[in-house]
Amino acid sequence: MDDAAEFLDYKKYSVLYVDDEMENLDAFRDEFEEYFTIHTAATGAEGLRLLAREPIALVLADQRMPVMSGVEVLEQAQKIDPRILRILITAYADIEVVIDSINKGNVYRYFRKPWEHEDIRTGIMRGIEYYHTLRERERLQAEKIENMKKMIRSNRLAAVGTMVSGLVHEIRNPMVAIQSFLQLLPRRMEDREFMMRYARIAQGEADRIEKLLENMLSFSRPALPTLRLCDMNEIVDRTTQLLDFQARRSNIKINVQKDPSLPMVYADPGQMSQVLQNLGMNALQAMDRSGELTLRTYGAEGRHVGGGVAVLEIRDTGPGIHADHLDKVFDPFFTTRDEGTGLGLSISYQIVNEHQGTLEVASRLGEGTTFTISLPAAEGKYRERRDCGPRGLKNCGVL
Ligand SMILES: Nc1ncnc2c1ncn2[C@@H]1O[C@H](COP(=O)(O)OP(=O)(O)OP(=O)(O)O)[C@@H](O)[C@H]1O
Ligand SMILES: [Mg+2]
Repeated sequence: MDDAAEFLDYKKYSVLYVDDEMENLDAFRDEFEEYFTIHTAATGAEGLRLLAREPIALVLADQRMPVMSGVEVLEQAQKIDPRILRILITAYADIEVVIDSINKGNVYRYFRKPWEHEDIRTGIMRGIEYYHTLRERERLQAEKIENMKKMIRSNRLAAVGTMVSGLVHEIRNPMVAIQSFLQLLPRRMEDREFMMRYARIAQGEADRIEKLLENMLSFSRPALPTLRLCDMNEIVDRTTQLLDFQARRSNIKINVQKDPSLPMVYADPGQMSQVLQNLGMNALQAMDRSGELTLRTYGAEGRHVGGGVAVLEIRDTGPGIHADHLDKVFDPFFTTRDEGTGLGLSISYQIVNEHQGTLEVASRLGEGTTFTISLPAAEGKYRERRDCGPRGLKNCGVL
């Protein structure tokens, strides 16, 4: 028992004794009232009514009672509140019953009749200590959950703050450009060159605001994924085609390493492809003019026993992410790129999260960055990998 038990106030917890013989009830009270808060009942029914009404930590019941036996009372007590500790008091002849109910988990322990004062006293004390430890653990757990909820709420508030200031900043800059153009317009109506140049800039800035608003929308109201049975290897192929053009222009080599026995997953292929594009584009932008981008898939054991995961890794040989930035990259509006909105990773994170998966980052300055997506493998018969030719692509809704 822990040290706290030494200072435990045993009287804080109530003990109920059920016995049909009045003399026994009185004797029990006389002997133990000094140490514990005692309740007594002369029948099982009366005892159970009391249990439903009062917070009782420990119940002792005599086995031999006319209407409801001790074991029956304790079984009912367990139904009222399984946390109540249950003790049977019985004569030697009933030992079979005792063994049976201990094996069934209905009874915490038993005492022989006639009882030894000290046995019962210490037995009840140990029971109360056990009950107290369990309640204490429950209380701490509830406190921990409450604290976590508070943390999530305050993190969310902080995220909203970052988001609003980011949004204001992102919209204000292009707005200033558009406003200056509009202000100059009446005086420069005749200046064709001015008109052509600034109209193009203003259009570009308006497009930027439009793209930002679109991103914001998919961030704040992400479309629920339409899940289909998918082969992530095919989504990798499709995304590689899209990234290829940009990669060639920047002299970047794309390696694809696909695990042929990658487990199938339930995913929204459009959304997953968007995630891959975001991660792939980030890698290409980070590497700038040369380097290698590797997309690798493999199957692995999940965190839950028996639950496999399909893993997809996007690794680059770029400059890496500074340690101070690592826990910010998923924040909305965090960006180090002039033309970036800083929404790509936060949207990707949210999408993977909606798929019950995880998106993680690891990076070393000067060496490169790896983003890892893990998605739960599809269950049951679909867990086995199936041949996914062109039909598989249709399965994924990719074609
Ligand atoms: N592969 C990478 N290597 C180095 N830094 C990266 C990498 N991926 C992301 N980052 C960092 O994380 C920041 C946030 O990325 P995110 O995709 O959310 O926004 P962005 O690329 O800046 O803008 P957007 O994707 O909205 O156009 C980037 O600005 C960059 O600093
Ligand atoms: Mg990006």
